[in-house]
Amino acid sequence: MLNIVILAAGMGKRMQSDLPKVLHTLAGKPMLAQVIDSARQLSPDRIIVVVGHGADAVRKAFADQTDIEYALQQPQYGTGHAVQQAIPLLVGGEQEGDTTIVLYGDVPLVQPATLKRLLEARANGMAVLTETLQDPTGYGRIVRNDSGQVQRIVEHKDATEQEHKIREVNTGILAAPTAKLKDWLGRINNDNAQGEYYLTDTIALSVQDNVPVNAAQPDANWETLGVNSRVQQAQLERAWQAEQAQRLLVQGVSLADPARFDLRGTLECGRDVFIDVGCVFEGTVTLADGVRVGPHCVLRNVTLGAGTRVEAFSHLEQATAAENVKIGPYARLRPGTVLAAESHVGNFVELKKTTLGQGSKANHLAYLGDAEIGAQVNIGAGTITCNYDGVNKFKTTIEDGAFIGSDSQLVAPVTVGKGATLGAGTTLTKDAPADKLTLSRTRQTTIENWTRPTKKQD
Ligand code: UD1
Ligand code: MG
Repeated sequence: MLNIVILAAGMGKRMQSDLPKVLHTLAGKPMLAQVIDSARQLSPDRIIVVVGHGADAVRKAFADQTDIEYALQQPQYGTGHAVQQAIPLLVGGEQEGDTTIVLYGDVPLVQPATLKRLLEARANGMAVLTETLQDPTGYGRIVRNDSGQVQRIVEHKDATEQEHKIREVNTGILAAPTAKLKDWLGRINNDNAQGEYYLTDTIALSVQDNVPVNAAQPDANWETLGVNSRVQQAQLERAWQAEQAQRLLVQGVSLADPARFDLRGTLECGRDVFIDVGCVFEGTVTLADGVRVGPHCVLRNVTLGAGTRVEAFSHLEQATAAENVKIGPYARLRPGTVLAAESHVGNFVELKKTTLGQGSKANHLAYLGDAEIGAQVNIGAGTITCNYDGVNKFKTTIEDGAFIGSDSQLVAPVTVGKGATLGAGTTLTKDAPADKLTLSRTRQTTIENWTRPTKKQD
């Protein structure tokens, strides 16, 4: 049986925020959600979050996630006291292999592979995740004996001058046998510089009970970096983004500048994809072979087919495009946009819940909402579907080969038949028949013998 306890009761004072620290985001996701996602990769029997400061807000943020349990720590008397609050919720303990892992809600990027290594290191004893730092100031130090075995952890504030020189530090993350951990937690006290119950004191108790303590190390340094301030949050964000950019480059994706790239979700790319500077990818984005994304675009839950190009400053959300589609510059694709192969959506064109058929073009200044547009249709500049009467939405259908003249308004529900042409400036309130010219405008007249007014003389 495996328990994962995530400590998230701390105040996070240095964030200078009304939002509980663990709800601040990293790569677009609350830090606590990042930790929970990594925890889930180990298929634990229980995930228990210890909440305190901002407990209600934290619970609310994860209300839809039924695999998470909460222990309330109020007030906060230290990391050992925090884990004590979770004891009633722990499962297992009868078997030697039953394990409890402790993670921190403000150490968001610890990776499943590292946690698996920690579990292996626990073996028949206990395991702590440690790191060797150039500047270990502030951290708990790993004290080993002459034969190199871990003996205890001493907090910076309690350490002697000699111990301050130790550069191997406690990341805070550990794995322990569940039954023994409960016992040790009952034996710790707060007789230390901070008057707190230290989780780290369980290490010395383990050694006392002849339970070996092993140390494991993370794959990368950023995995165990904690966030206590917005400065650290920004630094960790950049470290993580650099990591993701690097991974994509290795996979064969071209990034114009890996330092100006942001992924807040998952990005899957085919071969020879090019991404220009300043783009933000959110949710699940899939780019097929040869896709090019111009500078400063936002793509949120988007799928693009092979050879499709998105030009600068386009904003795409819940949209799909087939092969060789041209989008932008300055296009806005809202949820429910489906673009067929070879179609074009140009500058200042907004689409919502709209299908644009094969080879169809809306190249300039248009709003197309709740519309089904066939193949080889030309949408003139300034065309608007009037899809909303202030209460309900209505559908516009434009059949194959239709030509919509510039500055037309299509008052839905309405259908433009196959091959129909609408004259420029038409306000279409009734269906336009196939293959005919339909227009609604007053006839143009010229007033003969008209002269411009002249300024009156005094
Ligand atoms: C802790 C470790 C230290 C380690 C460091 C790594 C202890 C005693 N010390 O110190 O060895 O080097 O982390 O960053 O464990 N929390 C609660 N309830 C509490 C206290 C803390 O939930 O009563 C949570 C915090 O929200 C935070 C985590 O536990 O997520 C760590 O607490 P923090 O106060 O930052 O511990 P440190 O003093 O940094
Ligand atoms: Mg800390």
